[in-house]
Amino acid sequence: MQTVKTRSQTKSTVQRWKQAGESVAFVPTMGNLHEGHLKLVDTARQHADKVVVSIFVNPAQFGKNEDIDSYPRELELDSKKLAERGVDLLFAPETNEIYADDTSQATWVEVPKLSSILCGEFRPVHFVGVTTIVAKLFNIVQPDVAIFGEKDFQQLFLIRKMVNDLDFPVKIIGMPTEREADGLAMSSRNSYLSAQERKQAPLLYQALNQLASEIKTSSDDYRKSEENAAKFIENAGFMVDYVSIRRVSDLQPASHQDHEIVILAAARLGKTRLIDNIAINI
Ligand code: PAF
Repeated sequence: MQTVKTRSQTKSTVQRWKQAGESVAFVPTMGNLHEGHLKLVDTARQHADKVVVSIFVNPAQFGKNEDIDSYPRELELDSKKLAERGVDLLFAPETNEIYADDTSQATWVEVPKLSSILCGEFRPVHFVGVTTIVAKLFNIVQPDVAIFGEKDFQQLFLIRKMVNDLDFPVKIIGMPTEREADGLAMSSRNSYLSAQERKQAPLLYQALNQLASEIKTSSDDYRKSEENAAKFIENAGFMVDYVSIRRVSDLQPASHQDHEIVILAAARLGKTRLIDNIAINI
């Protein structure tokens, strides 16, 4: 596996492959890789001749009081895991390779409205940071296919919309959430959990499962069901940001008329913010 730190090295390597008629799959990450990321890499491998992974802890998607400084950085270990999984190119830029010192007049890519609902309500700058960096990485890597996890359901939704609206020539593939044996969704941030919190953490997914089976049979108003689930999660020791039953098609609040729905939740356990979701057909 080749590891590069600059945009120009990435572009020239990919250009060489493309000239030789090879296709490129891309997995953007922020590192501290777990099995969920590595499954994305395996999927990437199945879809193209070459696989590029990026590791970049993107400052633009962290709010002022968020965890950018403590976000785990494990480049050496991550490189080893990626090399073992057959990745061809690792792009691991420093911040100044990606952003100018003064970003106050920079161009930002924003999917309006949808980036300020759900997680966007609690993390106002987050999704503008995500869509901007993903757009930039797509322009640098020029992938034919890019793979994202469905755990970040809203992120995936926004990226698909951005790609569609701006005609990026890249196919987006979403992969099911990888879970620990007790159901906890794999996440780089799980490493923040204390031993006690780690025991409590799977309750979030349990609550979503419970809500999913309830709404399949009950005629209760969905807003009421969301409130009950939020109370259950709070009683288990979390601070709930939201529990929301939405339409898969447009992420707007779902009603009993809708068939394809997704239940999304975000809740904090100590200093760790966990998100999860379950998509169901009714
Ligand atoms: O999901 C992530 O790890 C990040 O949001 C992404 C897509 C790599 C952009 O920084």
